[in-house]
Amino acid sequence: MIIAIDGTLASGKGTIARALAARYGLPHMDTGRLYRATGVAALKAGADFEDAAALAGIARALDLNDFEEAELRTSDAGQAASKVAAVPEVRAALLELQRAFAGQDGGAILDGRDIGTVICPDADVKLWVDASVEVRARRRHAELMAKGETITLDEMIDQLKTRDARDRNREDAPMQAASDAHLIDTTDLTIDAAVEYARAAIDAALAEKHAASRPETQA
Ligand code: DC
Repeated sequence: MIIAIDGTLASGKGTIARALAARYGLPHMDTGRLYRATGVAALKAGADFEDAAALAGIARALDLNDFEEAELRTSDAGQAASKVAAVPEVRAALLELQRAFAGQDGGAILDGRDIGTVICPDADVKLWVDASVEVRARRRHAELMAKGETITLDEMIDQLKTRDARDRNREDAPMQAASDAHLIDTTDLTIDAAVEYARAAIDAALAEKHAASRPETQA
């Protein structure tokens, strides 16, 4: 079973994906890490963010073991990620890795921005997770403050809006809900309630799949 989870920054999609991976015993890939690592590697190398070939080369040479989780989670890493993610050559360089992960025996859960639309358009279940900008900014702000970053809530709201706009408006694989995705708005939902909703959608999809694969009984 392949579960594709897409959505906006700080919508809760990663937390939902991890909970579902534990529930269904499926391997999970946070595809945003690939773009974050590419962005961080490009910053470290002093790469030109306009040089698509250089950025794609960095993406192709990525070894995720070279990165500390903390350095991938800073707001600078997120902004660099959003910039490299808008480069088609970078997306192409990271595509096969994601498809191979999705294609492993037994299936997988991937979360990102284009999983249900580009990476796994035939996923068994697609979820789109979103929440209001204010609620997402408050969540992300609290996370960053806890890590010692100093950023105001207003700056966070501005950053989120800039990143949402860049992710939504890029030409290649823009962030968007697949037409057949189940929508989860976490603005007023606890994480437990959001996971329950996702589980209900997945279990219904599984039941439908099993029913469709059963031979029809003769009347
Ligand atoms: O989910 P995240 O914040 O870790 O993602 C970091 C950036 O990477 C985000 O701005 C959008 C981009 N991204 C993408 O374009 N496609 C994906 N499948 C995952 C992330």
